[in-house]
Amino acid sequence: MKKLTYSLLLAMMFMFASSATAATKPGSFTIGDKTFLLNGKPFVVKAAEVHYPRIPQPYWEQRIKMCKALGMNTLCIYIFWNSHEPQQDQFDFTGNNDIRAFVKLAQKNGMYVIVRPGPYVCAEWEMGGLPWWLLKKKDIKLREQDPFFMERLEIFEQKVGEQLGDLTIEKGGPIIMVQVENEYGSYGTDKPYISAVRDIIRKSGFDKVELFQCDWSSNFTNNGLDDLTWTMNFGTGANIDHEFRKLGELRPNSPKMCSEFWSGWFDKWGGRHETRGAEAMVDGITQMLDRGISFSLYMTHGGTNWGHWAGANSPGFAPDVTSYDYDAPINEAGQTTEKYWVLRKAMEKYSGNWNPQTQKWEGSAKLPAVPKEYPTIAIPKFELTEFAPLLSAMTKPVNGALKTFEEMDMGWGAMMYSTRLPEITSQSVLTGEFHDFAQVFIDRKYIGKIDRVKNEKSLTIPAVKKGAELIIIVEGMGRINFGRAIKDFKGIVGNVTLTTETDDVEMVLTPKNWINVAIPDDYETAKKALDMIKGVNDRVASGEVKGSVPGLALTQGYEGSKKLADIMKPGYHRGYFNINKVGDTFLNLENWGKGQVYVNGHAVGRHWYIGPQQTLYVPGCWLKKGKNEVIVLDVMGSRGERTIEGLEKPIIDKLNLEGPQTHRAEGQNLDLSGETPVKVGSFKAGNGWQEVKFDKPVTGRYICIEALNSHWNREYCCIAEWYMLDESGQRLSREPWQIAYADDEDVQSGNKNADKIFDLQESTYWSTNRGVQFPHTVIIDMGQDKTMSGFQYLPRMEEGAPESIKDYRIYVKSEAFKF
Ligand code: GLA
Repeated sequence: MKKLTYSLLLAMMFMFASSATAATKPGSFTIGDKTFLLNGKPFVVKAAEVHYPRIPQPYWEQRIKMCKALGMNTLCIYIFWNSHEPQQDQFDFTGNNDIRAFVKLAQKNGMYVIVRPGPYVCAEWEMGGLPWWLLKKKDIKLREQDPFFMERLEIFEQKVGEQLGDLTIEKGGPIIMVQVENEYGSYGTDKPYISAVRDIIRKSGFDKVELFQCDWSSNFTNNGLDDLTWTMNFGTGANIDHEFRKLGELRPNSPKMCSEFWSGWFDKWGGRHETRGAEAMVDGITQMLDRGISFSLYMTHGGTNWGHWAGANSPGFAPDVTSYDYDAPINEAGQTTEKYWVLRKAMEKYSGNWNPQTQKWEGSAKLPAVPKEYPTIAIPKFELTEFAPLLSAMTKPVNGALKTFEEMDMGWGAMMYSTRLPEITSQSVLTGEFHDFAQVFIDRKYIGKIDRVKNEKSLTIPAVKKGAELIIIVEGMGRINFGRAIKDFKGIVGNVTLTTETDDVEMVLTPKNWINVAIPDDYETAKKALDMIKGVNDRVASGEVKGSVPGLALTQGYEGSKKLADIMKPGYHRGYFNINKVGDTFLNLENWGKGQVYVNGHAVGRHWYIGPQQTLYVPGCWLKKGKNEVIVLDVMGSRGERTIEGLEKPIIDKLNLEGPQTHRAEGQNLDLSGETPVKVGSFKAGNGWQEVKFDKPVTGRYICIEALNSHWNREYCCIAEWYMLDESGQRLSREPWQIAYADDEDVQSGNKNADKIFDLQESTYWSTNRGVQFPHTVIIDMGQDKTMSGFQYLPRMEEGAPESIKDYRIYVKSEAFKF
């Protein structure tokens, strides 16, 4: 009897296209009636999104096995163009970039693969995966049919095809689907461009495999091509039926797939660590699986933005932190989390096969055992005793007009700009576009910083004597990866002016003769600078060099190095630690300012004391028994002891901010008495966009949204997105928008600031705090007067649109509102 049950079970397991192992024989993956078909049998994709460059190569297999043990049958990967072609025509598909090895490893472990080769990928990755050197052609149009862009993307996709083209399912490989572009709907409307990308991908070796495109349910029709499969992206909490309603209407027989179901969210410097509840995530997944809907869990394991690979979001400039933990089920270090176990338990129920006729899952399979995690170690506190000023790493100066990084042929790093000033007898205001973090010095004295994250563009400087030396050190952070702002030049962009005002006369000075010095961000540069200084020190110490070496002699020994670091703050610090057992660790950078860290030559990422990330993940596979080297580039200077220790647990949720994150000064109260609304109305209840037209066009710069109550009859309200419409009904660009005021913002339970209403992300939202009474108000400053015909409003994506606004009043003014 026992035997019979066992063989019955076996038979059941193999009756349908089993999800247990990916075939090595040629197979097929096609679109059937409301379902995907794997080798002709119904198949639900349960994909884990993981990014090979965010995981050290020696750990790939452990992470793949972790995904499989979670009940997933597929891995979904982006291909990161800029990581494979860091310089034009220099291709790299080796080591951590060996996508062929990754895909084969997936197959070896019985996993199918979905490939998303861009060219643009977003992914909170530097420039959304596009190579920076494209910007050397200043007038390039990115993600459009610009001849140079198309030429380069074709060359790149060809290379991807050479690596992966023979690994598609019909050729015996594990690749079942390939994506064309990425969420183009949140960038523009351009079917000819999308068609061209599709053709290039087909030609590159993906000639037979199923192609698809992903977008949001609100915009997928804008660029949807007839011959491609359409999938939707949305996150934890979203109303699943609402997300697929439109697709169901337009293509009733299409299989449904959420190609990015966001398990958590990414973190930005200066914002709270993002989390999403395990229950809500699992609920979304089980809702989809109960309906036979395929999904990819973005991220199942996020990993790390090593070195300079973290991108930045926009509008505004919101650089992402180094950790891409994402609050995913498998954490940054490849360990299980509570989410992992809850999800694994739920997935057991869906381990059999989906029967579209009965709309039921049939049979079941045991999930593989969860693989062992890599051990973690603590490293006792050690000192970084060597120092080399940043300027000791400078490359050949270029004199003349101000240059960007790109004009200096440098992708990442910092630049030093210097010039001599004429006499300026009073204070002046230095103004420019500094990308991204500028520090200003006059005659080597630190004056202040200009931080793009805070939208700063100017700094007041004191009166100066003729010939005073102005130095501006500009550190570049990640290039913007989302929206139109991806064309993000680094360094000083445009002119720098100095404005003085005396006796009502404004004088604007525009210095023209600059010295531009590039300081690339890489290990070799850092090491060379430190070795050079050390060499001089050693020679002075041994008596080989007699007398004093101006400036450098100061660095003699640790005391000298400390003194020099006090005077010339931006620079490299080096130290060593010894271990007798190798393991993963989290280096605590809380004593340090801002910059980069290199461990045994590996760029482990950016640090910035503002948080929320304070530790940097260092995988044990990059450490060795005995002596290990750590270099910290600190562009601000250390903030205390020059020490580091390795922790066994990360700190990724500790903010260290100077001011509040909210948009209301203490005691500030908006006074709307005497103001006349341009529109008074009521929104409908429920999910989805709503559009409202004004009775006649209105002109103004400041928009005040006053919410009087909510459909949920609770005391707080939320807005996911907001657009103003121009006279012809088109959406106005929100790039210059700022929040001028918000009566209340919930920054305790997450980043629910008012600027979420124009962050281009439908899944994030502004929320007031519970218990704060209506009315709630938010004021948008559009930067300049615009004539508008109406607005569009999107409530939250969760079922029933929680805390959606009911009655409202809208005010528009050219001058600021009164308080
Ligand atoms: C979108 C993009 C992804 C990623 C997520 C947010 O869905 O397609 O690359 O940026 O947003 O994490």
